[in-house]
Amino acid sequence: MNTNNKRPNPANHTHISIFILVSFIHLALPTLVSALKVEPLVGYGYKIGSSTVNPGSSLTCDLQLINKSSVFGSDIQNLKLVASFETKDRLRIKITDANQQRWEVPQQVLHRNAPSSQESHSTSSKKKGYTLSSPASDLIFTLHKTTPFGFSITRRSSGDTLFDTSPDLSKANTTFLIYKDQFLQLSSALPADRSFLYGLGEHTKRSFLIEHNQTLTMWNADIASANIDLNLYGSHPFYVDVRSPDSAGKVAAGISHGVLLLNSNGMDIEYTGDRITYKVIGGILDLYFFAGESPENVIDQYTELIGRPAPMPYWSFGFHQCRYGYVDVNDLEGVVAGYAKSRIPLEVMWTDIDYMDGYKDFTFDPNNFPLDKMRKFVETIHSNGQKYVVIVDPGISTNSTYDTFIRGMKADIFIKRDGKPYLGNVWPGSVFYPDFLNPRAGIFWSDEVKLFRDLLPVDGIWIDMNELSNFISSTPLPNSALDNPPYKINNSGFDRPINEKTVAATAIHFGNITEYNSHNLYGYLESKATNEALVKATGKRPFVLSRSTFVGSGNHTAHWTGDNAATWDDLAYTIPSILSFGIFGVPMVGADICGFSKNTTEELCQRWIQLGAFYPFARDHSDKFTIRQELYLWDSVAATARKVLGLRMRLLPYFYTLMYEAHMKGAPIARPLFFSFPQNIATYRINTQFLVGKGVMVSPVLNSGAVTVDAYFPAGNWFSLFNYSKSVSVDTGKYIRLDAPRDHINVHIREGNILAMQQEAMTTRAARKTPFELLVINSTGNSSGEVFLDDGEEVEMGGKSRMWSFIKFSFNIKGKTAIIKSEVVNGEYALSQKWIINKVTILGLKKRVNSLYNNEFYSGITRKRLLRNTTRRQIADDTNGFVTMEIS
Ligand code: GLC
Repeated sequence: MNTNNKRPNPANHTHISIFILVSFIHLALPTLVSALKVEPLVGYGYKIGSSTVNPGSSLTCDLQLINKSSVFGSDIQNLKLVASFETKDRLRIKITDANQQRWEVPQQVLHRNAPSSQESHSTSSKKKGYTLSSPASDLIFTLHKTTPFGFSITRRSSGDTLFDTSPDLSKANTTFLIYKDQFLQLSSALPADRSFLYGLGEHTKRSFLIEHNQTLTMWNADIASANIDLNLYGSHPFYVDVRSPDSAGKVAAGISHGVLLLNSNGMDIEYTGDRITYKVIGGILDLYFFAGESPENVIDQYTELIGRPAPMPYWSFGFHQCRYGYVDVNDLEGVVAGYAKSRIPLEVMWTDIDYMDGYKDFTFDPNNFPLDKMRKFVETIHSNGQKYVVIVDPGISTNSTYDTFIRGMKADIFIKRDGKPYLGNVWPGSVFYPDFLNPRAGIFWSDEVKLFRDLLPVDGIWIDMNELSNFISSTPLPNSALDNPPYKINNSGFDRPINEKTVAATAIHFGNITEYNSHNLYGYLESKATNEALVKATGKRPFVLSRSTFVGSGNHTAHWTGDNAATWDDLAYTIPSILSFGIFGVPMVGADICGFSKNTTEELCQRWIQLGAFYPFARDHSDKFTIRQELYLWDSVAATARKVLGLRMRLLPYFYTLMYEAHMKGAPIARPLFFSFPQNIATYRINTQFLVGKGVMVSPVLNSGAVTVDAYFPAGNWFSLFNYSKSVSVDTGKYIRLDAPRDHINVHIREGNILAMQQEAMTTRAARKTPFELLVINSTGNSSGEVFLDDGEEVEMGGKSRMWSFIKFSFNIKGKTAIIKSEVVNGEYALSQKWIINKVTILGLKKRVNSLYNNEFYSGITRKRLLRNTTRRQIADDTNGFVTMEIS
């Protein structure tokens, strides 16, 4: 979408004038402003009333209001706090209205395992308060009997305080908890010098590490991601807190925990460094603490609660080409041909809203994208082994002759206000929005997807504008505290009304649920419905790409970072954004390669494809009002694309195995350096590099004109994946200046890893038919690696069908013999596919090995020793004296 006319942009004139007006109000009406922004604190708070300690399970206590305050509405008198260990690594603290049911995020949103009863909890009551602990857990919950009360979470093994809401009794205006119908506030102290926070999105940020002194607002909005620091398309009130050592030396570097506030209402999260304060406009306080203690453990525990990342089809790891503004089917054909002619691997062709008839979902423009031609086009690309994905927006045109609309009206599935479908305006003009909280809407959506796919067998669906986006701002109902809540979150950076360019907060969903409460869930619910619709229609593993997300979205969809711009800054921001979604349990994430809005340049696009080739989801996409940016349009970009996408194709089994790891344990595909090097504090601030999996490090050029890059190398031996004889060897982590000429990106693999790679090809289908090469990077200890293999499209990944194989490799050297061992699960499947490993390359040897031994080595042809009659070649000695051997 054109950012110039539809998106709130803080830099434009309207906003400047709003800013001046706000400044004026600040000067002229301080009392009004303070009534709006400053919390009423004096003597305020809750004290502990009766408490029931339920030995062996949980701790429940009543909380009573001490003093009233009238700002932001009236207080809730009696609260109930329940603390419980849901698993040994997950502690939940839920604070609700003791007398009345309030809005809560529906439990079906989470894939929570029935909390296993933690038998061995102990609770104790002391004069100063109560504690809840379990010998199995490293977390201890303490409820402090101060007035007002407070609670804290500490780590048993180190005594480190992780979260502490205790009031500072030396101050008159101390409080951490405010609980009103439309304003909840909770605040915790944090050790500013030792606590490194990541997450709390979705925002475009300069830095992956959350910097001190900022407010992070969550309210899903159709705001271009080219705007930094504003609330964007999704809401993830979750952070990982990585700690550096304390002065007493009790806490080791890198010990991490996670905190989720499960709440779908709008909120501001104020983070000063020494304090985190949640200001939420509804729902309940439902906090989850995840014990860690490695960053990976935290994400494992988090995704255990919110749902594991959905498996993505193998093909989705190929390269994707999209644009808003392809003019007709010939244009699409030309692009596919352009890639083929330039020998750049193109896996998936996309079409934006242009293919639709009047931008109506599930229709075809009869002139430019007529169905018969579209069918032929899709048939051809399918026969090439390529795939096709189209966009679908949620708003259903209200055109009275439009079948989807007629069926939607009949099924009565639209969001309403005053008993009538709520009228919005998006690309097709007037629209009604399906209400995905209504079970009938899921059926409607599935049926529409099925009808559409019967016309055109698309391979995946891209769902956009699902924040919900509305080109007209909604008129508030007079005197409605929902449309106009007492506390104004910092929507769009200027405290804009929550109804701005979306559906009114007073709109009603199924079950009488207000938009006010469920707004942030829309994209999540649409993703879930679309995922289910595709499974029903195809029987295959679905591919859904959603712009709007919420806690748990990764269980249903991939995500892209939305409308960035073709600038060098935007290129750099993609790293924090992508890493953040890994933390949110949405590992299949990418950013528009070469930039969405504004005209890209040859150099920027060349650098962008170098970086983008290593995004988990790699798609070139651009706005209609910009120049074309398919990779073959410049010779230099085309050459670079062949090189970097060539490496990506070779790494496909690795990316796919990381998908499996993500699906099993939540581990991000693109990871910050501290995931592999948590003890190394220098990695906590790195924004310009990342890891694919545990051992492949990407160090891109992010500045115009640069031909070197200063890359940080954690201790160890690292080998260039483009040139094995170029190694970097560092005893302690340090920055190294690397050559990075225009056609090169530095990608290194660390000692200790084993990669199962395949060969370059134009599609994933062709690449999957090539033999495997094991790339082994020797280290002083064991090296290890793994590969997951299945048909790439079975709905389940690693499920009961056992139509998959999983092989773990390990490597070490004894004397002059190199030993590779493999542990194989379900080897029969791989054997049936006739996959072979026909080459082993060993990097980082100190001297030549004479023989290679392997146990029941998985070969796909024979389970005997594959490499008995092998030829061994010493292919190079590198500058650091390492020997590389190739055995085939
Ligand atoms: C939105 C999307 C963008 C898409 C455009 C037109 O702006 O974010 O990717 O191209 O709408 O559908």
